[in-house]
Amino acid sequence: MNQDELKALVGQAALQYVVPGQIVGVGTGSTVNKFIEALATMKDQIKGAVSSSEASTARLKALGIPVFDSNEVSELAVYIDGADEINGQGHMVKGGGAALTREKIVAAQSKMFVCIADESKLVAVLGAFPLPVEVIPMASARIIEQFAKMGGHGQVRMKDGRALVTDNGQHIIDVRGLQIPDPVSFEAQVSQWPGVVTVGVFAYQKAQVCLLGTSEGVKTLKF
Ligand code: 5RP
Repeated sequence: MNQDELKALVGQAALQYVVPGQIVGVGTGSTVNKFIEALATMKDQIKGAVSSSEASTARLKALGIPVFDSNEVSELAVYIDGADEINGQGHMVKGGGAALTREKIVAAQSKMFVCIADESKLVAVLGAFPLPVEVIPMASARIIEQFAKMGGHGQVRMKDGRALVTDNGQHIIDVRGLQIPDPVSFEAQVSQWPGVVTVGVFAYQKAQVCLLGTSEGVKTLKF
């Protein structure tokens, strides 16, 4: 099975966690796009979705799934999203699609985080994937310096020759060369730096379940 097929497999498998009659939290990315397609087949059984990006909102609406503002909804039973890396404790690196801030917000209002990923995303230690950090643009240089002191090499993410602008009007720094053996303390530390909007380590908002697409089928990891 190729990567695209594995993504479709876990996107379909995630439907078992969607609670009929409720609103579901929806992440962002190519794996979630497969989940959104699958979700459309049961759209009459759910109230709608809270979305983590403008891109997912557009896809949900195009398929006739109502999208609610997160402020209108107190608690979600489940949030379904992909990851760039996930370790054996359910800690993740996210933000490859630049949606990390809204992803963390929707994850925080959800009782359960179900991560959907192909097996290439499972790692022993987080850090091989360049760590995305959403920042206030005027703080970029100083934050890059802070990461350099930790041995990381940060660069502002570019798009079409300019700094990429997120859905929240901010920039992304991608940091290479880090090893993150203690994601909980790393997330707590970096989150306090002035100008950091969101660090792409999801340790406080970790996954409780990972549906991992493998050549032998979907493996369910529980944390
Ligand atoms: C977007 C994310 C995505 O979940 C992550 O990048 C994985 O994406 P994909 O499913 O396309 O591999 O964090 O900000």
